[in-house]
Amino acid sequence: MIHLGVNIDHVATVRQARKANEPDPVLAAHLAELGGADGITVHLRQDRRHIQERDLRLLRETVQGVLNLEMAAGEDILDIALGVMPDEVCLVPEHRAELTTEGGLKLSLDDRNLRSCIDRLKGAGTLVSLFIEPDAATVRTAKAIGADAIELHTGTWANAYSHCRGDEHDEQLVQQLSRLEEAADLAATIGIRLHAGHGITYQNVRQLLHLPMLRVLNIGHSIVSRAVLLGMERAVSDMRKLMDKGPG
Ligand code: PXP
Repeated sequence: MIHLGVNIDHVATVRQARKANEPDPVLAAHLAELGGADGITVHLRQDRRHIQERDLRLLRETVQGVLNLEMAAGEDILDIALGVMPDEVCLVPEHRAELTTEGGLKLSLDDRNLRSCIDRLKGAGTLVSLFIEPDAATVRTAKAIGADAIELHTGTWANAYSHCRGDEHDEQLVQQLSRLEEAADLAATIGIRLHAGHGITYQNVRQLLHLPMLRVLNIGHSIVSRAVLLGMERAVSDMRKLMDKGPG
């Protein structure tokens, strides 16, 4: 069965909009697991725009399934990761100005920083995946540099899907899906675990489920968006009831 990793960053985004205590991503993680999430994913960004170190520490204590930390390969964050010891780390590129992770890692076998980051995490017992574009050379480099897994960036495919509204004959969509299929085939052939994520929605998810040896889909924005809408009616009715009770 393909595992569902739920990315709860945007629960923290709402909290940080007020620098308040709610909504707490730790509680959201608990509910996500009750709903069937196999794992919880958070991205501890250098600018701490959503998830905070406190969240990561508490999640380590409370998450029952797999805790997957997305992070850039920087010394400060690496120290935090080694202190917390998530089950998995997904190394991602990170730029301060971006709205979300844009594009996969540019991999090079000569990248000593990346190699040392992978080695230290693996040495400490964490499974390491690399967030990469679906192309053959990058998949091969990910394996050669020592990663346990790749997470294929599905964002370009997801954009193509929404652009043509899922028209399976659309040239761009066909092309983007074949890129993912070829990268997945290669991952299976050379023996590296396959994860995928970014831009996956309730509309497009089923188009990915045939990818060979796919182990994990990491999904965030679409699930958090639906959670906000599904919870709205109940939230308003709870407030209405309190107001109807009168002063207290
Ligand atoms: N995988 C990685 C590596 C990501 O950076 C993100 C976004 O934080 C996701 C998956 C989830 O993407 P989305 O929020 O679009 O579902």
